Amino acid sequence: MRTPLIAGNWKMNGSVALINEFGQAFSAAVSPTNVDVVIIPPFPYLDAARHAFEGTVLSLGAQTLNPIHSGAHTGEVSGRMLKEFAVSYVLVGHSERRQLYKENDEQILARLLAALSVDLKPILCVGESLEERDAGRTMDVVLRQVGYVMSRLEPDQRKQVVIAYEPVWAIGTGRTASPEQAQEVMAGIRAYQAGFDKGLAEQLRLLYGGSMNASNAAELLAQPDIDGGLVGGASLKIDDFYAICQSA
Ligand code: G3P
Repeated sequence: MRTPLIAGNWKMNGSVALINEFGQAFSAAVSPTNVDVVIIPPFPYLDAARHAFEGTVLSLGAQTLNPIHSGAHTGEVSGRMLKEFAVSYVLVGHSERRQLYKENDEQILARLLAALSVDLKPILCVGESLEERDAGRTMDVVLRQVGYVMSRLEPDQRKQVVIAYEPVWAIGTGRTASPEQAQEVMAGIRAYQAGFDKGLAEQLRLLYGGSMNASNAAELLAQPDIDGGLVGGASLKIDDFYAICQSA
């Protein structure tokens, strides 16, 4: 019922050459079907990607956006600008943005609303730290992050949001959440969403992120509430990323 979504977050990695290689590898003729595949490269590669991905199954995402459309904000990029480059999705609230750039819930909500205002689909990233998991606070933390945003949206806006659960301790560490751990949190997020609207909760796409790779993807994606993946390191390797898409 929910189309799986596999998104590759390249973070501050990649090159124009790699964009072109992905364009060739994911031509519509040979790509996995029944899965939405999104590449999220750094801003400077968006233009090359929009050309290289024509005629492929790949859609484009961006890693962040500024909450306002234009102005004196040196170094920033707005959602309106992203739309000019055929971008469909944008990450908001990634743990690296929360930690390294001190983005708080209020700023994350503002970015997400800015995305919705220009018809970009936000992928809201949430997840607990190791300390929070060890203290038994995983669900509290995750539902607070989800709730801060979702409780402030109109029903029509909630429909557009994809949520990625990325336990911070699993990101880039090679330590993946077990399928059961991930499923437990995903089920909690869906149940929370059902509090607003059961139908909407059934449609909500939930992605797992954190050291997902070609070997562990199938088991994670087989969980009933995991509808896809937000892949970091493994999304830079064509064969691995392709295999993850095939598992979806
Ligand atoms: O957004 C993707 C992410 O943070 C997971 O990264 O390298 O652990 O797959 P990685």
